[in-house]
Amino acid sequence: MKKKVIAGNWKMNMLPNEAMKFIDELAPIAKNTEDEIILCVPYTDLFYSLLAAQKTNIKIGAQNVHYEEKGAYTGEVSCQMLKCINVEYVIIGHSERRLMFNETDETVNKKIKAALKTGLKPIVCVGETLEQKENGKTKEIITTQTKIALEGLTNSQVENIIIAYEPIWAIGTGKTATAEDANNSIIEIRQEIAKMYGQETATRVIIQYGGSVKPKNVKELFSMSDIDGALVGGASLNVEDFAQIINYEN
Ligand code: PGA
Repeated sequence: MKKKVIAGNWKMNMLPNEAMKFIDELAPIAKNTEDEIILCVPYTDLFYSLLAAQKTNIKIGAQNVHYEEKGAYTGEVSCQMLKCINVEYVIIGHSERRLMFNETDETVNKKIKAALKTGLKPIVCVGETLEQKENGKTKEIITTQTKIALEGLTNSQVENIIIAYEPIWAIGTGKTATAEDANNSIIEIRQEIAKMYGQETATRVIIQYGGSVKPKNVKELFSMSDIDGALVGGASLNVEDFAQIINYEN
């Protein structure tokens, strides 16, 4: 069985001292799991979080990156800048970035390519809005987003990508997709990957569910055939909640 990949997305929360305290408290709990535990923290917490996470099995990720290597891009951070301080993961194409900061499927594809070239592992978010869901467009939206995001890669590159299926209407709302619906959407994403890169690669890709994952619903979500992990927002800001999510089997 694949190990689960559980990533926290702190968004624009947590100061460095809070980040370090959180990691110190989480480390003894995370150490008992075989699963992959990742915290995606604000840029200003990266260095402190990496220090606190040294000698633990907690991996650190960023929440965004620019696709250019360097240059006149005021306020942006490159893949190399993340990689050289030992950041391992980066969230790409989160719906908040797509909706508030004009990210497109095309820039998501560019960012994925830049991240993989540098050796960063992308966590790529796809998901439909409530309106798209109500209009029966979920499959079309998530397969198109997946297709454009993954265009022009090699099989081994695709196998290094984590996809997070995050229905936008479930993010921060307390409304989770039912485990069956989440699983079905993830199967559709996997089928799209299979069309592009073959079944073997599609089976290997980790596909998480995200959107109001909480201690009370994680076990059911993780019991589904195709849900390989979770991208956790709100519940990753509270160490007890995140610890319970990591300990979903107990
Ligand atoms: P949520 O956020 O768990 O607070 O719904 C998930 C996310 O945005 O990645």
